[in-house]
Amino acid sequence: MKKILFINASPKRNGATDKLLSLVTMNLNKETFDHKVINLSDYDINYCAGCKICYKTSECVQKDDIHAIMRDIEASDIIVTISPSYWADITGQLKVFIDRCTPYCNTHEHHAAFSKGKEGYAIALRTGQSPCECLHIIETINHFYGHLEIDFDEKFNMYLCGINNSRDILKYEKEIKCFADLINCAV
Ligand SMILES: Cc1cc2nc3c(=O)[nH]c(=O)nc-3n(C[C@H](O)[C@H](O)[C@H](O)COP(=O)(O)O)c2cc1C
Repeated sequence: MKKILFINASPKRNGATDKLLSLVTMNLNKETFDHKVINLSDYDINYCAGCKICYKTSECVQKDDIHAIMRDIEASDIIVTISPSYWADITGQLKVFIDRCTPYCNTHEHHAAFSKGKEGYAIALRTGQSPCECLHIIETINHFYGHLEIDFDEKFNMYLCGINNSRDILKYEKEIKCFADLINCAV
């Protein structure tokens, strides 16, 4: 059984991102995957204080919910991060979360590390029609995976444009099923 963790960066409950996630998880092969969805906005995650103590200790000095999410990542084989476009970028919740992953960032000599072999996928959605904002979000998420030494592959990215609300997601039911099938076939 593979463990798959969905990190939902939208602060809105029952919005478009929730609907998209529910369709992806509904189409996952239940015999292959044990999945968990976490909503970043349900967690108490402080801003990074910029102290850089973690550059030396590989640990964050702040005691909040970030550590529970780190445990969830460690326990998972596949991480799927999903963000709507907010001002042409990832949501604030996701940016704060990424900053707090700095103890795991491989650009400093002493850093914490997740066990090898994890894979990272990315999903972006937006109201506007052109894909460029979504591609930027996907690039940001893949950049994050890269510094955490989580493997990513462009083919496991999905983006949806023209999404105003959860009903709009239904226009993409076929594409979402194809994305879930891609995940099903990958293991
Ligand atoms: C604060 C805010 C900023 C947004 N900025 C953009 C934007 O720059 N470009 C865009 O295409 N959509 C933008 N949107 C629209 C969302 O990306 C879109 O409605 C998405 O489906 C929201 O997902 P949700 O229902 O899970 O919140 C913005 C929405 C909000 C609330």
